[in-house]
Amino acid sequence: MYTIVDYKHLGGLTHEMSVEAPQLAKKAQAGQFLIIRINEEGERVPLTIADSDAEKGTITIVFQAVGRSTDELAQLRTGDQLADVVGPLGRASEIEKYGTVVIVGGGVGIAPIYPIAKSLKAAGNHVISIIGAKNKDLLFWEDKMDSVSDELHIATDDGSVGHKGFVTDILEEVCSKGDVAAVWAVGPMIMMKNCARVTKPFGVKTFVSMNPVMIDGTGMCGGCRIQVGADTKFACVDGPEFDGHQVDFDLAMKRSAYLKNLEAEGRQFYHD
Ligand code: FES
Repeated sequence: MYTIVDYKHLGGLTHEMSVEAPQLAKKAQAGQFLIIRINEEGERVPLTIADSDAEKGTITIVFQAVGRSTDELAQLRTGDQLADVVGPLGRASEIEKYGTVVIVGGGVGIAPIYPIAKSLKAAGNHVISIIGAKNKDLLFWEDKMDSVSDELHIATDDGSVGHKGFVTDILEEVCSKGDVAAVWAVGPMIMMKNCARVTKPFGVKTFVSMNPVMIDGTGMCGGCRIQVGADTKFACVDGPEFDGHQVDFDLAMKRSAYLKNLEAEGRQFYHD
């Protein structure tokens, strides 16, 4: 069993939890994910590792309560236990010294972008971070992001804090100044698609973190397949990060919309 040692409500449907998982905390690298099960009968929920502390032996997850299992997870508090925490899974981010890098996190995607920014900063890069949300109340971890960034830009759809508009507006401005060696974008699929569209004319390498539905998380079920250039890839073992200029976002969004409808039916059934 894995004990929850800290819980915070981050606003809206977003929750943060730190869980005791010493082995996992020792091995976790930026960009990787884990799969949890709340109890023996629970479904497997893939979540990106938002932070880890090898000394304390804890990992941090940030999630939105948007389905049966994540609703159940959001009910748990400090002292409660999870049946399984498996990981770290997936390939780690390609961290090296690039020069100037831009990190873009949208909505709940701000959490997984944090360890990437932290590792890139530690590798000696000049880190420009751009985080965005619908409004001020849905924004979180501004301080944490600030602590690992040389520049931090904020965008909100309603202008309640920072730039009124999208993260892509700022990304375009930053790229147009030149010198950007690589971009990471994590957030809603449409945001990642638009980040890749913005960076393409500048020829800037762009990593996106794909989060399709995952079942086994080991490359066996095919549930997480996505199209990257001419190849079919499995996000759980080949990713979750891919070249944003090669990903077929339209196909991935179509698949995810279909599966979301099934999830909504499941949620309805659970609440009835
Ligand atoms: Fe089954 Fe990736 S989750 S192949």
